[in-house]
Amino acid sequence: MVFGLTAKKLISYDLEKSSENLRENFDAFLEGLLSVPVAIPGTAYYKCLQGRKKVMRVLKNMLEERKVKPNKVKNDFFDHVLEELKQDDTVLTEEIALDLMFVLLFTSFETAAMAILVAVKLLTDNPRALKELTEEHEKILKERANPEDGLTWEEYKSMTFTFQVINETVRMANIVPAIFRKALTDIKIKDYTIPSGWVVMVSLPSVHLDPDNYKDPLNFNPWRWEGMGTKGSSKNFMGFGGGQRFCVGADFARLQMAVFLHCLVTRYRWQPIKGGETLRTPGLQFPNGFHVKFFKKDSKSG
Ligand SMILES: *[C@@H]1O[C@H](CO)[C@@H](O)[C@H](O)[C@H]1NC(C)=O
Repeated sequence: MVFGLTAKKLISYDLEKSSENLRENFDAFLEGLLSVPVAIPGTAYYKCLQGRKKVMRVLKNMLEERKVKPNKVKNDFFDHVLEELKQDDTVLTEEIALDLMFVLLFTSFETAAMAILVAVKLLTDNPRALKELTEEHEKILKERANPEDGLTWEEYKSMTFTFQVINETVRMANIVPAIFRKALTDIKIKDYTIPSGWVVMVSLPSVHLDPDNYKDPLNFNPWRWEGMGTKGSSKNFMGFGGGQRFCVGADFARLQMAVFLHCLVTRYRWQPIKGGETLRTPGLQFPNGFHVKFFKKDSKSG
């Protein structure tokens, strides 16, 4: 669902009408992203390279098509990028533009979709949290003047418990297991020196699952974020990275999750059917998926 939405906004991609399955190529790309770099047919790394190559070909064709026959009305983000390409003083080249589209397509769906999946799984296992979340959203519906109206910004800002659920989900999911930084000068930390030029791998789970930072770290406990104060500082919570290269999509991801949860808990109940086991390779995966059965809630009860 998330891919369908973002791919449409970014490049007007329609899964039903397209001959190339972009989603599959991105899956292959993701599976080999952190793998042993052996590029022979059959390896995850090889599939990763192929996945990227195929997506880049689709994007390149799209670019050529639009150059010959530009869209009169700007439909999607790609149109705006192409417009920028035409400017004299632009820093963009075709190569950078294509890379940008690739990265945007990739980052805007995979991590958000995974976070939503983890949230649903954790809520399924924690009925008390699900109950409080549902109450928060039913209250929003109840206080809305016209029930047919969509979600508003004020309503979004009022979702206190939802944001706690989202932080707790991101903390436990560790969807991005590590981030990399390069030391630009010699850096002294306690008795150690990280020499200039070295690459540092920051292991996020060791921060997020450290009992000194989070009591009973393996417990899904959204309430722990209540009055977290400085404990929830960027030093102890790096689900969206940190510093100058903090995830530019952090707020977009939170928004997607909150809107999804709002619709989910106000309209549906669900029952787990099978799957739900997780695996780290080292990215988070659900090898058997997570299958649930949805039931529409009686519309009068919200
Ligand atoms: C979630 O984490 C962010 C980043 O550390 C923090 O600014 C925010 O206050 C947290 N939200 C809640 C509800 O605690």
